[in-house]
Amino acid sequence: MSEAVTAGSGGTPLTHNTEGTDRLVAGFVVWAVTFLLVGTMQGVIQVMPNIRRWIFSTGGAGHLIDPLAHAHVNLVGGVVMMAMATAYYLLPRVLGRPMFSVRLARLSLWGMALGVSGWYSCMVALGYLEGTMMLETGIGFHDAKAAHQPWHTLGFVVPATVMGIGHWLFIANVYLTVFRKNRR
Ligand code: HEM
Repeated sequence: MSEAVTAGSGGTPLTHNTEGTDRLVAGFVVWAVTFLLVGTMQGVIQVMPNIRRWIFSTGGAGHLIDPLAHAHVNLVGGVVMMAMATAYYLLPRVLGRPMFSVRLARLSLWGMALGVSGWYSCMVALGYLEGTMMLETGIGFHDAKAAHQPWHTLGFVVPATVMGIGHWLFIANVYLTVFRKNRR
């Protein structure tokens, strides 16, 4: 799977091992397809008339499940993580040198995986609990949300921060790989 790359820029042959990040590429792809599996399964489930009715009738609570959980598990977990896998695979080969840091790459993988998993679980759980409370008691979303504090706010802030860290470590690693010298 890994290979020595001998395509340096400026005609200078470089040899390096891509093993560290190639192993992570497989991790990104597995997480990405798993998130796509979850997201597409949600899509099939939420198209059922009863579920659609429930989501529409619960307003802001339903919005947490569709589109907030659905959009992010598919787009961030599936599409963005697959794009990250592509970048981690291609950049060392295109530039002829390894990624700036395998450790940053590993941290970005776990930030994304845990952040998206946490975000998805929190959005679905909060949406379900707050929506059910709205339908059972007749209160509005604002009150249902208030009844679930501080969990509502924590359910947004904690996974959003982890997800953000996953994105930003990836972005930093790409910039440092392109613009700075190698470091393992
Ligand atoms: C740290 C990363 C991210 C966080 C914390 C985050 C959080 C949020 C929040 C709070 C909203 C507003 C929801 C609302 O009140 O309607 C939102 C909307 C949205 N986000 Fe993200 N987001 C992130 C990254 C992304 C990325 C990378 C994508 C796409 C690849 C994306 C796609 C969307 C879409 C499509 C919506 C609109 C959903 C709607 O129709 O309401 N997000 N996001």
